[in-house]
Amino acid sequence: MTTPFGRRLCKVSETRASGGYRLFSLIDRDGPEPLPGQFYMLASERHWEQSDQRPFLPRALSVAEATPLTSPFVASSETKREVSGGLRLDFLIEGIGPGTDRLCELEPGESVWVNGPLGNSFSLPRELSPDAAGAILVGGGIGIAPLALLRREFAAKNVPTRVLLGFRDKTHSGGLDDLFSCCEIRLASDDGHIGHHGYVTDLLEAMLAGDDASSAAVYACGPPQMLDAVGAMCRDRGVACELAMESPMACGYGACFGCAVPKPGGGYLRLCVDGPVVRADQVGAIHA
Ligand SMILES: Cc1cc2nc3c(=O)[nH]c(=O)nc-3n(C[C@H](O)[C@H](O)[C@H](O)COP(=O)(O)OP(=O)(O)OC[C@H]3O[C@@H](n4cnc5c(N)ncnc54)[C@H](O)[C@@H]3O)c2cc1C
Ligand code: FES
Repeated sequence: MTTPFGRRLCKVSETRASGGYRLFSLIDRDGPEPLPGQFYMLASERHWEQSDQRPFLPRALSVAEATPLTSPFVASSETKREVSGGLRLDFLIEGIGPGTDRLCELEPGESVWVNGPLGNSFSLPRELSPDAAGAILVGGGIGIAPLALLRREFAAKNVPTRVLLGFRDKTHSGGLDDLFSCCEIRLASDDGHIGHHGYVTDLLEAMLAGDDASSAAVYACGPPQMLDAVGAMCRDRGVACELAMESPMACGYGACFGCAVPKPGGGYLRLCVDGPVVRADQVGAIHA
C-alpha cells in the first residue's frame, strides 16, 4: 500500500476515441477519491523519453470522472461484505505534443505512473455567494474535462446546473457522449458544425442577461482567451465565478515555481497548489 499521495503505478483498463480526443481509464487501488477540479501528474511506465533517452517530465491531466470500485470477498465463512477495490479514474486528453501524444497511444494493460489527486477543487455556489443557488458550467475544448466530475457532484448535491460547452471545430472536440450524455447541454462551435455558430461566451452572455446576477455562480475551464472573457463578464456583472486555469507544470506540488502566474495586486499564485481553481476576482487578464 502506498501513501495517499505517493507516486504509484496504475493499470490502464480502457481506452477509446472520443470525438477528436482520447478517453482513457486507470485503476487506482490506493489513492484517495479526487474532488472536481483536481488533477494528476501522469507518466507512462514505458516509452516515456525523448529520442536521446532523456525522460519526459510527467504531464498534468484533470480527472474527468472517478468511480469507486467494489470487490466482493468472503470476510468469514458466514458473512460476505464489500471492500473498496479502489477507483476508476477517467481522463480526457488531446494530443498536442510528445507527452500527450504518448498518453493518447496507451493501450489497456499498460501501466502509468500516477501522482495525485493534486491541487484544490471547485466550491459550492453558496460558498462563493450567499444568494447563488445554482451553477452555470462553461467549458471550452479539452477544458470540458474537469466540468464532467463537477456536474456529477452538483447533481448528487441537487445543485441546479446549466452546462454550456464550446469547441473550435470537429477535430478539436469530443467527450460529449462519454462524459455529458445524461444532461442537457447547450453547445457552440467556432465553425458552426454543432450548436450555436460562435463562441460559448455568447451563450453565457445571453444566459446572464436573463438571470439575476447573484442567482448562480459560474465555473469555467478552457483556453486562456475564453477564461479571460468569462472572468471579465462575471466581474462586470458581479457574478461569482471560479476559473480552472492551466500553466506548464513540472512538479505539481509546489516545489519548482514553474506554474507561477502573477496576481493583479503583485505576487504570484502557484497554480498547482493555490489552484488550479481560482476565483475570477483573484486573477487579472490571463492572456495579456
Ligand atoms: C491543471 C492542469 C490540468 C490539465 N488537464 C488536461 C486534460 O484534462 N486534458 C489534456 O489533454 N490536457 C490537460 N492539461 C494540459 C496538458 O498538461 C498539456 O497539454 C501537456 O502537458 C502538454 O504536454 P506535451 O508533451 O503533449 O506537449 P508540450 O510539447 O509540452 O507542449 C505543447 C505546447 O503547449 C504548451 N503547454 C504545455 N503545457 C501547457 C499548459 N499546462 N498550459 C499552457 N500551455 C502549455 C507548450 O508551451 C507548447 O507550446 C492540463 C494542464 C494543467 C496544468
Ligand atoms: S508545478 Fe512546480 S510549483 Fe507548481
